[in-house]
Amino acid sequence: MISNYRTALVTGASSGIGEAIVRSLTEHGLIVHAIARRAARLQKLENETGCIPHVLDLRDTDALYHTLNPLEVDVLVNNAGMGRGFDTLFKASREDIERTLETNIIATVHVIKAIAPGMIKRGCGHMIHIGSISGLYPLTSSIYGASKGAIHLLSQNLRKELVGTPVRNTEICPGRVHTEFFETALDDPDKQKAMLDSFELLQPSDIAESVIFALKMPKRVNINTIEIMPTEQAVGGFIAKKIQ
Ligand SMILES: NC(=O)c1ccc[n+]([C@@H]2O[C@H](COP(=O)([O-])OP(=O)(O)OC[C@H]3O[C@@H](n4cnc5c(N)ncnc54)[C@H](OP(=O)(O)O)[C@@H]3O)[C@@H](O)[C@H]2O)c1
Repeated sequence: MISNYRTALVTGASSGIGEAIVRSLTEHGLIVHAIARRAARLQKLENETGCIPHVLDLRDTDALYHTLNPLEVDVLVNNAGMGRGFDTLFKASREDIERTLETNIIATVHVIKAIAPGMIKRGCGHMIHIGSISGLYPLTSSIYGASKGAIHLLSQNLRKELVGTPVRNTEICPGRVHTEFFETALDDPDKQKAMLDSFELLQPSDIAESVIFALKMPKRVNINTIEIMPTEQAVGGFIAKKIQ
């Protein structure tokens, strides 16, 4: 058990960071609702952790409210996300643009609207949003960066909306993590491999540990933002090219 939190909901629980967070929260004794589209993955996770699976496409807003409205959740982890159109906005398809923005921003806002009022009413809750360093710095991925930049300011503004309530709110901004993210984002296997193999990446369990860190702090402490990167990765730099 962490603090007086009994229940949690993790979106994007079928792989990577979300799966690691479900494992960690269940190990800490929480009842965890796990959300994703891939039923077989959730079934396996249920068998291994005892989490409660909900097969749900978060882009289906009616289904989202139908599934989430009845739940009483103390810890909400907004983790589901993707980076289609990762290379360049100019070459991205309309579908890739919409999938990324709808999943990363619109669905996240609806999940918060479905869950946060219950936390405020009960006077108990902690929201964790998985952002990205792409939401803090320009990293040449306009669509994905815009979606995570939106999560950054969503989280910062939620802090203000929540002042006067005991509900806490944390954004975690990882650098590169070894997950299936790049398989989904990039079609070219060489580019996928380059993203995973070029240096030692974070592991999903590293992000899960940072979640537990934020949750375990005394109730007077709100961890606003955690920026967490591989030791072998850093941001910064300057780019300039003559107009051809
Ligand atoms: N990997 C990185 O380097 C990195 C760095 C910074 C931030 N992040 C962020 O971390 C979060 C988790 O990504 P990951 O790296 O763990 O990648 P991942 O392994 O691809 O996980 C993405 C998760 O999101 C779920 N998801 C995607 N679309 C969904 C939808 N419409 N409805 C329900 N679930 C959906 C996927 O489940 P289904 O496909 O089964 O639905 C999957 O469980 C994302 O928000 C990502 O932007 C990742």
